[in-house]
Amino acid sequence: MDGYHAYTRHVNPVLGKFLELTGRDLRLVHAQGGVLEDAEGRRFDDWISGFGSFNLGHNPEVIKETLREHLSGNAPNLFVENLNPYAGTLAERLIDACGATFETVFFSNSGSEAVEAALKTAILATGKKRVAHAEGAYHGTTLGALACMGRGLYRDDFNGVLADFPEVPFADAKALENALSKEDVAAFIVEPVQIEAGIRIAGDEYLQDARKLCDRFGALLIFDEVHTGMGRTGTLFGWQHSGVVPDIFTLAKSLGGGMVPIGAVLMAEGLWRRAYGNYLRCEIHNSTFGGNALACRAALKTLDVIGASGFLASVRERGEALYLRLTQALEGSRLLERVAWRGLLGGIKLKDVNHPWLQWENVGLEELRGRPISGVLVMERLARRNILVQVCAHDWSVIRVEPPLTVDPDACARFVDAMGEAVRWLGENA
Ligand SMILES: Cc1ncc(COP(=O)(O)O)c(C=O)c1O
Repeated sequence: MDGYHAYTRHVNPVLGKFLELTGRDLRLVHAQGGVLEDAEGRRFDDWISGFGSFNLGHNPEVIKETLREHLSGNAPNLFVENLNPYAGTLAERLIDACGATFETVFFSNSGSEAVEAALKTAILATGKKRVAHAEGAYHGTTLGALACMGRGLYRDDFNGVLADFPEVPFADAKALENALSKEDVAAFIVEPVQIEAGIRIAGDEYLQDARKLCDRFGALLIFDEVHTGMGRTGTLFGWQHSGVVPDIFTLAKSLGGGMVPIGAVLMAEGLWRRAYGNYLRCEIHNSTFGGNALACRAALKTLDVIGASGFLASVRERGEALYLRLTQALEGSRLLERVAWRGLLGGIKLKDVNHPWLQWENVGLEELRGRPISGVLVMERLARRNILVQVCAHDWSVIRVEPPLTVDPDACARFVDAMGEAVRWLGENA
């Protein structure tokens, strides 16, 4: 059995079968920059970017060079019960990139684990038990992170075992005040841009209010930057747009340059000590491979690239140019509801279509009855032109726009042309 069939058999039988039966079972063999290539030599523009993991594109040469150089030596990869200079240097670099407020960094291997560490740190540092979170949130699929996930598909089957944390409407400072005043709340966790909820941008005023409210009620403010961090929104970290500084924030995904898994949790001065500050407690939260040398080297190089002079300015310029061309191409489309945008992160929200031929249950997917279909139809239309996009996990009526931060003007032109055509086509036919 080849590896592709083995995937269907042994890794995700439903997804594999679905891809096979609908003709979307691409045999990808090559990835470079923003282009994926299959075994037959067909090339696809990748506008999904590994859900935010390929901010530097696929297989970035500088990261590969760093990893090759590192692997040519025999440095320890783990420093179990020893001082880890790679983790130390990376922590220092991350803190320097924020300004002076942060002091300590915990390293993990994924975004969910970074969120777990943030939650545990807040609970220990404040001595309080609950973490408020926003409706529509996506913080990962481990049990702690799920307790902060917006209600719906990803969490509901687990409600019985999840911590009972208060959920507040997104961007509603009054509701947050209410929750913080009543509950035993250690922290409020929020994404500066809720990506899976449909690219919903937290306004500066809301974040400022959240900061003040957390201070007033003795709760910590946590920003989940797993997806928005590392340049995606045109600043290194998403919170740098508002100037609102959190007590804790998480990173993962593109931190490892798209080559190596690594997550991080940055904590404000004094927090780590309050949570873990004696010899008995200093390792009660840990991760065997967190901060391994290989991952830290990749992250350090990623910071070099994104921090290089002009890189983030070019992300903002590319983003603005793309936004302008895209909104022009979509102008007047009957189905367009809104375009949300920040840096090189966008969301195109479509009104749903209500055509009798276009119902999920008619194609045998009864379990999807009632879900929006317009975003997925546009996604299919783009795939015919070898452009890969995806909808948001919690809102399938929103198509996410997430190219590599190095996307070139030709790829942008192909995308704008195909997206304009697909949205027009759907509006005219459905
Ligand atoms: C904002 C946010 N937090 C956490 C996670 C979980 O990250 P991971 O999939 O690496 O566990 C994600 C993943 O999409 C995310 O978007």
